[in-house]
Amino acid sequence: MFPADPITAVTHPDPYPYYRHLAATRAFHWDTTLGLWVAAGPDAVAEVLRHPACRVRPPGQPVPPGLLNTAAGALFGRLVRMNDGPAHAHLKGLLAAWLDAVDLFAARRHALALTSRLPYDAPWAGDSVDAWMRTVPVLTVGKLLGLPVDTSLDDDSIAAQVATYAAAQSPLASGEATARGAHAAQALMNWAELPVPDDRPLSALRQAAATFGIAPEAVTANAVGLLVQTCEATAGLAGNTLLRLAREDGAASDIGVSEDEPLDHVSDKALDRIQAWVARVAREDPSLQNTRRFIAQDTTLCGAQVAAGDGVLVLLAAAGTMRPDVEGRPWTFGAGVHACPGHGLAQALASATVTSLLARGVRPAALARRFAYRPSVNARMPRFG
Ligand code: HEM
Repeated sequence: MFPADPITAVTHPDPYPYYRHLAATRAFHWDTTLGLWVAAGPDAVAEVLRHPACRVRPPGQPVPPGLLNTAAGALFGRLVRMNDGPAHAHLKGLLAAWLDAVDLFAARRHALALTSRLPYDAPWAGDSVDAWMRTVPVLTVGKLLGLPVDTSLDDDSIAAQVATYAAAQSPLASGEATARGAHAAQALMNWAELPVPDDRPLSALRQAAATFGIAPEAVTANAVGLLVQTCEATAGLAGNTLLRLAREDGAASDIGVSEDEPLDHVSDKALDRIQAWVARVAREDPSLQNTRRFIAQDTTLCGAQVAAGDGVLVLLAAAGTMRPDVEGRPWTFGAGVHACPGHGLAQALASATVTSLLARGVRPAALARRFAYRPSVNARMPRFG
């Protein structure tokens, strides 16, 4: 049965026939129940993402009301992801240049090495898998930036704070989750403000930003922002890859990573094989299924008259059912000026996470017998514990 609407589709067992139907028959339409325009066809999705009147925040509301006057709101308001125009362009350019320069092979190895210090509880494999998926990519990005990461999995560890802050941004967050998010935001900002040695990328980013007159707090917020952008979407990509390996007969055993294999013995070929699965999953069962835009002034969009203040739900995953890529990347990474600059790193880190779990003896088929998608309006992210 089709999901009831494009929001419930995100966590539906198989939303893709529905998405394909929407993309083919209702490429751009008004959904009266959601009170939103919905872009589903690939041309419509690309047009919305590139249209100058389509902004990442509603007019006059740079920060969600629930986060106003909190540390979480201050952090949110500085993110390039959540700004348009010059405030976005300069800093995004610097972040994108750094991400482009990251050696993805080395990043995979960093991630693998880091897992040797993470606790893994075999009797509760599902819980450990969930913790690793959320932790390994985030800590690796922190380490690549030059931040002092610790590898504990305590509730106040960096990775846990990032997950708490990321969860607080969801419209499904309770009042309590929002309050915890504000606390986590403050802790993360304090941590990311610490001085780092001059030879670390974060230090170079701070210096380059200063030449554009960008405030140091904006760099700190966006360093934390990189960890937040990494957290749920990359965990979801790793989780959906584990599910995919479970569903394809023999796929997990053909990869050539055996249980209890020392991580420095895992070959680049095996990592590449897993990364090929990750790339397929990014196209066919993506972790980030939709994003939103808000109309800044009355205009024509995809042939329809839209009004200032209208919202648009942009179904990246629906566009992907008709055409595999946009601008040379899977649709899940977006397009236009806000396109994800971390797409290569995300796929490298998801591969390393899956690899390290297989080497710890995780069996995808066993995980897939017992999982549920986390409640979300945009992220398809399995939970195994
Ligand atoms: C599977 C993992 C990931 C997915 C699916 C993903 C997807 C996306 C999407 C769809 C956007 C654009 C949102 C929009 O236009 O409304 C975005 C933006 C962004 N992503 Fe990712 N992302 C992932 C991982 C990462 C990683 C690992 C990093 C960096 C370490 C990163 C950094 C960013 C940044 C900085 C932006 C804001 C760009 C801008 O607004 O100009 N992402 N991501």
